[in-house]
Amino acid sequence: MAVAPETPRWDRLLAARTRGEVGEGIAAVLAFLGVPDVISFAGGFPDPRTFPRERAATLLAEFAADGEASAFQYAPTRGLAGALDAIAGRLEAVQDRRPGDDELLITSGAIEALELVGKSFLDRGDLVVVEGPTYLGAIMAFRSFEAEVVAVPMDEHGLEVDELERRLAGGLRPKLVYAIPDHQNPAGVSLSADRRAPLVELARRHGFLIVEDVAYRELDFDGEAAPSLWSLAPDVVVQAGTTSKTFFPGVRLGWAAGPADVCARLVAAKQNTDQCAGALGQRLFEEYVRRGWIDEQLAQSRALYRRKCERMLAALERWMPAGSRWTSPRGGFFSWLTLPGGGDAAELARRAVERGVGIVPGSLFFPDGRGGDNVRLSFSLVDETSIDDGIERLASLVTP
Ligand SMILES: Cc1ncc(COP(=O)(O)O)c(C=O)c1O
Repeated sequence: MAVAPETPRWDRLLAARTRGEVGEGIAAVLAFLGVPDVISFAGGFPDPRTFPRERAATLLAEFAADGEASAFQYAPTRGLAGALDAIAGRLEAVQDRRPGDDELLITSGAIEALELVGKSFLDRGDLVVVEGPTYLGAIMAFRSFEAEVVAVPMDEHGLEVDELERRLAGGLRPKLVYAIPDHQNPAGVSLSADRRAPLVELARRHGFLIVEDVAYRELDFDGEAAPSLWSLAPDVVVQAGTTSKTFFPGVRLGWAAGPADVCARLVAAKQNTDQCAGALGQRLFEEYVRRGWIDEQLAQSRALYRRKCERMLAALERWMPAGSRWTSPRGGFFSWLTLPGGGDAAELARRAVERGVGIVPGSLFFPDGRGGDNVRLSFSLVDETSIDDGIERLASLVTP
């Protein structure tokens, strides 16, 4: 009699570095997006109203009609020359510094830039300092290289650079310090201008590389921005950028700008990941920049997100019980809520789904389990007319 083969247990074969729970966090965030009729403040997705459908269609028709091959072909690993030139020009326009040809590469989203940095720099047990709280995808990316991730606290002016200095003086030896200086995910605060020069000085003094993530930098509500860390110190900063929030994430397009020898390493690492970012997205973004469409788009996106943010802050003011606190972002997608009296955000998230509201508990954004009384509230994707209702429902579950 034939014996049925046992179902293979692939977990026995998995590499040690993939046995951890690295993927759970983002999956939990994305799960809310699929649930119908939930007013979701969970995912940090752009509003589809910002997607340039018609212009993308125009450009695609042009590429096809012109018999253009480059949009449909493999691209060089560093990126297509025209797209590199468009991104370099934009960095010059918005950050006052143009990277040299060897100081820039195009990546498949900012997350790939982080992945390439991790792959190039991190051995098992190496130390990465992050802001506490920080972007969950970055914690997961660094951990996937078996790095130890340590959070340094933030206040309403961003990373506490003095505290980082104290810890460095006490013997902390990070290889990388990862920061999101503008409209941070998830805290919704920015690193104040007067902390930026001291931070890059610490990198010079202690010999670590700063990884600056500028995902929300161009989505400011006031048209003001402190100098980017990379523009202040291109010798010790590698910047990870993305077009996901300003153009559209379907193209998976970003960049890394940094010291030439670092960029050369990242290009080498990219050769054995995806070899090149998609040429179609590169050509679309290049034309979008050249025709000045990106600036028109940004003006509309900023106004939309500003309006949504103001609505959410007004609703929080109206409905949240005394003792609750939240940040007042001047850009980006997020506000960070602190529950009164050390409330349990994970329990709140469970009860909120039953009332038709999606939120993300704050502990996901710390590498060390802190954030139990925090909630990340995203205003970017939620329908404007549901914001007040959603916050009212959420507030009804918060114990003063
Ligand atoms: C701070 C931060 N960095 C990077 C990313 C990922 O960007 P991309 O879509 O370019 O991979 C996100 C997306 O949510 C983000 O919030």
